[in-house]
Amino acid sequence: MNYIDASEAPLANTGQIKLHGPEAFAGMLMAGRLTARALDLMAEHVRPGVTTAELDRIALEFAGDHKAVPAPLFYRGYPKSICTSINHVVCHGIPNDKPLREGEIINIDITLIVDGWHGDSSRMFPVGAISRKAERLIEVTYESLMRGIAAAKPGATTGDIGHAIQSYAEAERCSVVRDFCGHGLGKLFHDVPNILHYGRPGEGTVLRPGMIFTIEPMINLGKPHVKILSDGWTAVTRDRSLSAQFEHSVGITADSCQIFTTSPAGLHHPPYAVS
Ligand code: MF3
Ligand code: CO
Ligand code: CO
Repeated sequence: MNYIDASEAPLANTGQIKLHGPEAFAGMLMAGRLTARALDLMAEHVRPGVTTAELDRIALEFAGDHKAVPAPLFYRGYPKSICTSINHVVCHGIPNDKPLREGEIINIDITLIVDGWHGDSSRMFPVGAISRKAERLIEVTYESLMRGIAAAKPGATTGDIGHAIQSYAEAERCSVVRDFCGHGLGKLFHDVPNILHYGRPGEGTVLRPGMIFTIEPMINLGKPHVKILSDGWTAVTRDRSLSAQFEHSVGITADSCQIFTTSPAGLHHPPYAVS
């Protein structure tokens, strides 16, 4: 039998789950923190009249100023640096020149590469005053993510994470999107394991210290079904109901999990005390 040191494992996704060491955790914390700062910066700029192309430009400039590269840019042909998903857009909305309007809700998803490590995180931002039902969806989605994170620890399974999210979101009369999942990451943007946001306790992969992945539930007010628009990226709810998402990058530790993408400014979820 041949063995290979984990730190020298091939960069490619070989289907083996990498168990990362302290160096990787340190690298992920640097990348995660910078990504979180970029999202903190977005909170100052999201308001009626701003275009998502402008937010994209601000994020790209922030990355450049900090020796970071936005991972989405040219990833599988993706044309922009961030994803901006408004109202019934579930994920992968492409920034454009249309101004944001009062009452909209927008997910901004940023992935910055720092020293080879990927920090991947997203938050919801209200555009001015929003409806009570939009507020509630955002609250339910944030709580779904945090319950998923609370379930992520050594000996638990990916199914435990999915179950924690699904049981809470559905009890709140919301639905969980099935077509997109969280993912392993590190030096790769998208790696094994898949982290489904639904499932049954005890199913899936057993979590071990050193695993690094995202949890990023997409929660809808209506049905869970999505379709992809003709641009090949934008995913929307089929019933056009509102959709929300929050995402953190995390690492499994000896006894729990570490969040790499916590907001340094304390801007965890709206309302954000800026602007
Ligand atoms: N950041 C997204 C995720 O959470 C992926 C975006 S890939 C892109 O996995 F190409 F759409 F940007
Ligand atoms: Co992700
Ligand atoms: Co993301």
